[in-house]
Amino acid sequence: MRTVYGLAALAGLAASRPSPEPLPLEARAVAVVDQETGFTFSETKAAATLSSNIVFRIATPANVPAGQPYDIVLQVIAPSALGWVGLAWGGSMIRNPLTVSYPNGAKPTVSSRWATAHSPPTTYTGATLTPLTNGNKSNGTHWQFTVKCTGCTTYTGSSGQVRIDPNSSRRFGFACANAKVSNPSSSSSSIPVHDVYNYITHDFPAGANSNFAALLQRNGVSGGGADTGNTTFV
Ligand code: HEM
Repeated sequence: MRTVYGLAALAGLAASRPSPEPLPLEARAVAVVDQETGFTFSETKAAATLSSNIVFRIATPANVPAGQPYDIVLQVIAPSALGWVGLAWGGSMIRNPLTVSYPNGAKPTVSSRWATAHSPPTTYTGATLTPLTNGNKSNGTHWQFTVKCTGCTTYTGSSGQVRIDPNSSRRFGFACANAKVSNPSSSSSSIPVHDVYNYITHDFPAGANSNFAALLQRNGVSGGGADTGNTTFV
């Protein structure tokens, strides 16, 4: 009798539970000033394993005009054990810019990719990745890259034109693998499938830089235009 009562109570609980909704983690606005490049980045850590993180940092121009495309600076720090890491700007693998990188001796290789299916992504020319003169390196424990991206925040996805609002938080997908890529010096190297994929929610405003173009220049990259940020239009 007690058992029956218990089951009935459990059934009642189950019936009254709200239907499962995806609950993205709240974006934590963490601003990090990178002394080496001078950029203020918004930082999100993604668990690669139970005991190691990939650090994703994005710097944006402050005061991007409404509706306009804009460049960003992406900085990623990855544990040396990883063969490659990737960021999916649209939050899933398919039909959005994928920024993939892998260690390559002193300076990692960064590669722009696109997937139309859950199969190896190919080169994506809609996003241009330009390494900064600083912030691309590796040591015994980690590798790090820092690139300007033109085209990572505006693209044509499965449901049409997408523009990531620089005043918002955004859910990204990320992925990584232990296995090394076959040709690490080539940005079009084939890459082995991921061991891990998951999601992060990234807060953009914490990485706003009022002197974005000047900082790009300090790091050897032209961004043109005023410091208001809309440095390159795609
Ligand atoms: C190297 C070749 C790759 C293969 C063969 C591959 C294959 C797959 C497959 C089969 C799934 C579905 C897994 C499941 O349903 O359990 C998946 C999911 C995913 N992959 Fe990949 N992948 C590759 C590269 C990448 C890259 C470079 C990224 C960059 C970030 C990525 C990001 C993701 C993400 C975020 C998901 C989960 C969301 C989704 O299903 O779209 N993948 N992948």
